[in-house]
Amino acid sequence: MSSLLIRNGTVVTATDRYRADVLIRDETVAAIGATLNERADRTIDASDCYLFPGGIDAHTHMELPFMGTFASDTFHSGTLAGLHGGTTTIVDFAIQTQGDSLEAAIQEWHRKADGHAVGDYAFHCAVTDFNERTRQEIPRVIHEHGINSFKTFMAYKGALMVDDRQMFELMKELVKHGGIITTHAENGDMVDHLVQKFVAEGKTEPRYHVLSRPPICEAEASGRVIDLAWQADCPLYIVHMTCEEALARVKAATARNQKVHVETCVQYLLLDDSLYFQEGFEGAKVVMSPPLRKPRDQQALWAAINQNLVHHVATDHCPFCMEQKQMGIDNFAKIPNGAPGIEHRLELMYSEGVDKDRISLNKFVEVTSTTAAKIFGLFPRKGTIAVGSDADIIVFDPARKHTISADTHHMRVDYSAYEGWEVQGKCRQTILRGTVAIDDGEPCVDEGFGRYLARPPFNPRY
Ligand code: URP
Ligand code: ZN
Ligand code: ZN
Repeated sequence: MSSLLIRNGTVVTATDRYRADVLIRDETVAAIGATLNERADRTIDASDCYLFPGGIDAHTHMELPFMGTFASDTFHSGTLAGLHGGTTTIVDFAIQTQGDSLEAAIQEWHRKADGHAVGDYAFHCAVTDFNERTRQEIPRVIHEHGINSFKTFMAYKGALMVDDRQMFELMKELVKHGGIITTHAENGDMVDHLVQKFVAEGKTEPRYHVLSRPPICEAEASGRVIDLAWQADCPLYIVHMTCEEALARVKAATARNQKVHVETCVQYLLLDDSLYFQEGFEGAKVVMSPPLRKPRDQQALWAAINQNLVHHVATDHCPFCMEQKQMGIDNFAKIPNGAPGIEHRLELMYSEGVDKDRISLNKFVEVTSTTAAKIFGLFPRKGTIAVGSDADIIVFDPARKHTISADTHHMRVDYSAYEGWEVQGKCRQTILRGTVAIDDGEPCVDEGFGRYLARPPFNPRY
């Protein structure tokens, strides 16, 4: 049996903060106490450091086949980058190919991840083609594959988008078997119309990406999926919410006591749409959907975190190198949508959130780890530091500064949207299931160390 003792750290969970020693035996936390009279194979002195639960990023796309290319991080490189930044668990999307089965998508994602990921991983299943055969697959996906969350895209017409009937029928099916629907909410028809109009007018630069996806597209779709979920009595999680108008739809739903789970992503809190209006092709770096919004939306999102309207801050990590982005040099609609983010989510949320007094330490843990674990059925195994939980722990030094750069990051992508940003606070050690996976910048785990996490049906009383 291996053991690890972390001495004198400040344990921070979603609810507590206290100084303690943490004893890990094998993969789980064995004891927590003010001063533990124990010996271990290794002792880490965490004086002046926070001990946070390992980060959970509930929205990533490793090796996603998309818009004629593949997201550039593999499960190995992407989860390793995540570990460098304190993310120990991801939930990636196994995406059905239209005309094919859910089973085929799940097998394909296992093929990409199993034996390669170094961080722990679970899957959502994206339903892009809901028909009788898909319907029959749902119970097996939930009960045998351990996937309780089903993604629908209301945008990407002709590729991933489903219509309202498919979405509503999927919801009704999920209610029967213990699933939750997770939705990309943008009005795909409105977007499609605007894209075609701009392209026909010869307006092809990256800035037309944001102009073809105004906030009303997102607000309308958010309101629509909220209503559909209400009618179907289906639990709902809206991914990557970006704007005040969409948040207003969530707020309105609370009046009828409807719980809408909302995710935003770190880039929507920190970057704004002025980046699309830079010289040349620079704006392509942040071509993602929905697009970046205005500073007032950032403010609304920070406030929504504190109002408990936003529950999780993910990344939608979907990196493409500049050579791939160049596919849209003559037409913004062909720029692969997505941006890197997994490595710096936690450090940015600490630096820009906690250190700048926008959110508390407990809220930081809640939105980067705990609530995602609860919603997606991983709690209390993941998402907290407690006796019996997996020993996924970040030893975080709040005094250490560093500068983000593509020259030094570990994601397999040749740019960073945060190039040159000074960040306050750094993950010194990342511990995954009791093993020090990253030790002062040095990776210590082999390819395949990550483990697949099968999850139980959705529990509304989480
Ligand atoms: O632009 C984005 N977000 N790319 C990844 C696919 C998605 O919509 O989540
Ligand atoms: Zn999306
Ligand atoms: Zn996504």
